Amino acid sequence: MLKKQNKVNMSTTPHKAGSSPAAVQLEEGKTYAWCACGLSAKQPYCDGSHKTTEFKPTLFKAEKTETAYLCMCKATANGPFCDGTHKTV
Ligand code: FES
Repeated sequence: MLKKQNKVNMSTTPHKAGSSPAAVQLEEGKTYAWCACGLSAKQPYCDGSHKTTEFKPTLFKAEKTETAYLCMCKATANGPFCDGTHKTV
């Protein structure tokens, strides 16, 4: 008997969605959901695709209206923001 598998096996390593950060315009006070799994088709934001993984989006509120650089390699230690890790992964 085959066992149905619903979860994508990526429990510890997210999918790399890009090799450089996404420049986005944030609005002060607005809440955003940054995709941590790397599977979203609406990068760098969550579209619900993480439901097949162990990952959850990172919710954050913009402190000011500005251009921000959100991580696309999904290896940053400062999620959702780029910390330069994409240069080494
Ligand atoms: S789609 Fe990646 S965290 Fe939601």
